Amino acid sequence: MSYFHIPVMTDQVIRRLDCRPGGVYVDCTLGGAGHSRAILERILPGGVLIGLDRDADALENAKRKLARFSDHIRLIPGNFRDLAVHLEDLRIPAVDGIVADLGLSRHHLEGSGRGFSFNRDEPLDMRMGPDAEATAGEFIAASEADELARIFREYGEERWSRKIAQAIVRHRARADIQTSRQLAQVVEAAVPGSRGEAGRRIHPATRVFMALRIAVNRELENVAALMEQAPRCLKSGGRLCVISFHSLEDRIVKHQMRESENSCTCPPRFPQCICGQKQILRVLTRKPERPNESEIAANPMARSAKLRAAEKL
Ligand SMILES: C[S@@+](CC[C@H](N)C(=O)[O-])C[C@H]1O[C@@H](n2cnc3c(N)ncnc32)[C@H](O)[C@@H]1O
Repeated sequence: MSYFHIPVMTDQVIRRLDCRPGGVYVDCTLGGAGHSRAILERILPGGVLIGLDRDADALENAKRKLARFSDHIRLIPGNFRDLAVHLEDLRIPAVDGIVADLGLSRHHLEGSGRGFSFNRDEPLDMRMGPDAEATAGEFIAASEADELARIFREYGEERWSRKIAQAIVRHRARADIQTSRQLAQVVEAAVPGSRGEAGRRIHPATRVFMALRIAVNRELENVAALMEQAPRCLKSGGRLCVISFHSLEDRIVKHQMRESENSCTCPPRFPQCICGQKQILRVLTRKPERPNESEIAANPMARSAKLRAAEKL
């Protein structure tokens, strides 16, 4: 199996993680193992990298690419929403750094055969890993029009969400939507003027595919669970770095980092604290860091990346 992905913002991730020899780091999203390799190059001698991915292809690729570090890696198939449990299983109470680079890899789009891209005709699966319950085809077949419209609107910010959802429901009454091309054609036919409309720069199915993928893989719930657990999985002084590509993901990351930064919220006149809220993190990036122009020119998929980082107190 060949696996392809270009890691994004690697230098910034490494700087923000503050990797040190002998440290223990978690890469929650192995993907093409680019970030993992960069971390491993800085933590020897003595360091350990724990690499997680829900996708078996990514783990197989990482095992091959990181073979020369085999004494210093633990590769775990699983979901980062269970980060605390994975560390408990390894009997590691806390780590020096955690990185998560959210979303899809190029392999998913171009080499997985799972229907993530409307440019290919593949079975409409879209599951990143076996832990996702239903395929995109099953999800589309089973969801009410209102639910489909909500997902396209909320996750995809698709302005024609209702029309597209209704077109899907009408189509599936006649025949199942089984492939990525079939879905793309239904969307294209439902969006007014999408064939050649000058003002519409992206393919009319772009937002629908993104929204479906987010729903099928419960991506937002997973990020929220990770952000809730990550601070307590860090040692004091440990760093958390998250790269997101979607505004809803970035909002969760920003909100959770700020929440963990808040200390006591009791009014000043209270003689003692009753809220019990303590500052756990110090946010290192007031505004998210972005890839520079040359990185975006070399890898256009990096253009929407936002990196946020925080340190455990
Ligand atoms: C953008 S890629 C990561 C690329 C990687 N940082 C690199 O340097 O090549 C995202 C990866 O995260 C994985 N992933 C997404 N959601 C996940 C989750 N909830 N738990 C574990 N892995 C997940 C995907 O399967 C994919 O391989």
